[in-house]
Amino acid sequence: MAIEVYRHDVIVVGGGGAGLRAAIAAVEADPKISVAMVSKVYPMRSHTVSAEGGAAAYVPGSEDSLEKHFYDTVKGSDFLADQDCAEYFVEQATSELTRLEHWGCPWSRNEDGTVATRPFGGMTVPRTWYAADKVGFHMLHSLFQHSMRFDRIVRYDENFVTKLLVDDGVCRGVVAIDIRSGVMRCFLGRAVVLASGGAGKCFPFTTNGTIKTGDGMSLAYRAGVALKDMEFLQYHPTGLPGTGILITEASRGEGGYVLNSEGERFLVTRDYGVGQKAELGPRDMISRAEILEIEAGRGLKGPYGEYVLLDLRHLGEAKIMAKLPFVRELARTYINVDPVHEPIPIRPVVHYMMGGVDTDIRGATPVPGLYAAGETACVSMNGANRLGSNSLTECLVFGARAGVESVAYAKGAADGNEARLRGEAGTEG
Ligand code: FUM
Repeated sequence: MAIEVYRHDVIVVGGGGAGLRAAIAAVEADPKISVAMVSKVYPMRSHTVSAEGGAAAYVPGSEDSLEKHFYDTVKGSDFLADQDCAEYFVEQATSELTRLEHWGCPWSRNEDGTVATRPFGGMTVPRTWYAADKVGFHMLHSLFQHSMRFDRIVRYDENFVTKLLVDDGVCRGVVAIDIRSGVMRCFLGRAVVLASGGAGKCFPFTTNGTIKTGDGMSLAYRAGVALKDMEFLQYHPTGLPGTGILITEASRGEGGYVLNSEGERFLVTRDYGVGQKAELGPRDMISRAEILEIEAGRGLKGPYGEYVLLDLRHLGEAKIMAKLPFVRELARTYINVDPVHEPIPIRPVVHYMMGGVDTDIRGATPVPGLYAAGETACVSMNGANRLGSNSLTECLVFGARAGVESVAYAKGAADGNEARLRGEAGTEG
């Protein structure tokens, strides 16, 4: 069977938050550049769509500050974050979320019209922008619709990338298979951006969708790029037993309690190191506390193992419907529990990989021409533990950066400057 060949300047692998943002940034960076977006699913089915609770950024004029966002991010990372990356991230976060609103994202608002924020785990002040509890859905729609303004973003949906084309140490494109027809395609470009999400599906019990199979990480690894920080895997404290479906941290941000089988708020009554933050402690500490409670015999037994409880009843139906309607829908649909009347069974669940493809602050990997952003990448702003709601913003901030940098590289590559870009001696003319 003949291989179909397509040529573009930049090839983006993945059509979720980071991929769409990278593609938009690339075409905005140069009026002539053409981008192929190669995704194994239709972009609106990317896992970004399942994000619920929100995206973090400093709101000017609020009690927050860039310093606080930076400090919380670095402290949450157990001081293992790359602090230059964390600093760049917090500086760019507000403009990225504001830009997204200009593209249509309906951030919830306070009565006075200012952007509404909610507290998330490990934050010193409320910083999480939200659109009820369907944030990923709205962000992805806004990005996707904005991307459709550009003819120069050419989508190849349901094309599964099987290999990076690395020749003479330089990444020059990808090979993909059309999932429906089986046709093999070769996408040749001057730069490739990997933005294909994490690898949570390596684990049987995860919040991650079936598509999160670590494709970008394995493509890069097989091309000789190191994976960084792979030992840092994040458990989210509130997954539904059985399915692992995420019950957003916004439930605790809005005031939910975590209870053991004795009805005790153990994060308040026992010393699990979260102090006065209680349910708003970092998610790694809360997950650990839940397991210790279960091991101490204070869990509840169910068909899918032991669990503890998330109690939202005291919030009342009006608040639940205003702020957490999706949580109610999920609990009713998948576990037959109405959180207005009953606590929700929960347990820790694999949620996020801090590690990924080794990149620098520009999203560049050690292979010239290869970039990565989003959960696929490890720019290393999350260290050992990512703060809740930093990842959606990370997709935007570092997706945009990788898009811009890949164009700069592609233009250099077009001039025959690959050797110079690799830092080798070469002829410049
Ligand atoms: O609980 C949540 O809504 C998860 C957010 C995140 O991982 O950033």
